[in-house]
Amino acid sequence: MKKAEFLLTPVVGKYFVGREDVVKELGKELGNPKSRIGFCLYGRRRVGKTSVLMEVKDHLANKRNVVVVYLSLYDLADFSIETLGEEIINAVIDAYQEKNLLPFTIKIRKLLEAPIEVVTELLSNTKIEASVLEHIKILLEYKQGRRNYTNYIRDVFNTGEVLGKATSTKCVIILDEFPEMTKVENGMQLVKILRTQYEKQEKTALVISGSIKKTLETVALSEASPFYKQLVPKHIMPFSREEVEKFLSLYLGKTKTDEVEKLYQLTGGLPFYLQFIGRSTGYAGSIDKAINQFLEQEGDLFFKEEIEKLSEKEKIIVIGLFQGKKTLTELANDINEAPTTVGRYLPELIGKEIVVKESRGKYELLDKMFGLWLKRTYLHDVK
Ligand SMILES: Nc1ncnc2c1ncn2[C@@H]1O[C@H](COP(=O)(O)OP(=O)(O)O)[C@@H](O)[C@H]1O
Ligand SMILES: [Mg+2]
Repeated sequence: MKKAEFLLTPVVGKYFVGREDVVKELGKELGNPKSRIGFCLYGRRRVGKTSVLMEVKDHLANKRNVVVVYLSLYDLADFSIETLGEEIINAVIDAYQEKNLLPFTIKIRKLLEAPIEVVTELLSNTKIEASVLEHIKILLEYKQGRRNYTNYIRDVFNTGEVLGKATSTKCVIILDEFPEMTKVENGMQLVKILRTQYEKQEKTALVISGSIKKTLETVALSEASPFYKQLVPKHIMPFSREEVEKFLSLYLGKTKTDEVEKLYQLTGGLPFYLQFIGRSTGYAGSIDKAINQFLEQEGDLFFKEEIEKLSEKEKIIVIGLFQGKKTLTELANDINEAPTTVGRYLPELIGKEIVVKESRGKYELLDKMFGLWLKRTYLHDVK
């Protein structure tokens, strides 16, 4: 069998490992034209959320009566409401065009740049549904300043609904990195408008995803948030041991069963690390050797941002946690301070998403790889 190529970008198809349950559930629910259930995917950065979304999209590609629209809000050129609106319109109409469900092939980007009269004339010669033509005219009127902006996002988000009705399809709209929306002016207001609009829609199912827990909580997960109970939450977790093993055998064409445990422990099962180590070392030799080589080659650059967030004392605490210390008392000795002082550092470290609370009074490092690199670099402790 041809071995897979290690990738730092999202993966789909043959090289997509594990996550069978969530892919199956989303595929089934979103692929059912009668269901309007939507989802909220959350999980730490680089855990594989985008890959899951793309994999689901792939599974639904051949369904005739379902159109899946994918848009990452991370790629927005700026945080203006105009840009956000246009990107949504483009993504929705492009997806319908790709499925040959619209009677015009001219790119919507181009269309929106032409004067209304020209567009109307152009499209009136096609067999376009009156409702779709009317909707495109409305969108154009905003763009050309002939309509005030109050209802813009509502109408933009209605595009999928209008097309869904006109073509008897269900429109699944995936907004990846959804919390970025709160960076747009009056972002929280936009989220609420979207929610109200979504409630009224019959042909649209929404899927959102994001990694910043706090922000996602304010939009979807906490009780006071607009999308609470509207979207089914799905926590995407790192790979299990079995999935790490599957990954290695698929990507290397052989397993290193005896060493899976070590790799699993240090990477925490984060697919990104498995790919990244593979890309820079090909897993030649032992896992220890591969990880060392990886940290040597990539660590300084890769952890630059993390390290800049830490004070000297915090660094020592992180190393302590990496070495298996868990309680305030155990950590306090390392920095020659009272346990209560350590107690003040930890909430900070949790806020920076470096430490997680394991249980009462016990703390853990989120990313062991970072701990290992820090220990090597800071204590010059290279094996
Ligand atoms: N199911 C998977 N199988 C193999 N590699 C994966 C899988 N999911 C993610 N990856 C790898 O992990 C990294 C991060 O994936 P991505 O989907 O972009 O995560 P997220 O969207 O959560 O940040 C990429 O390098 C990708 O190739
Ligand atoms: Mg992503």
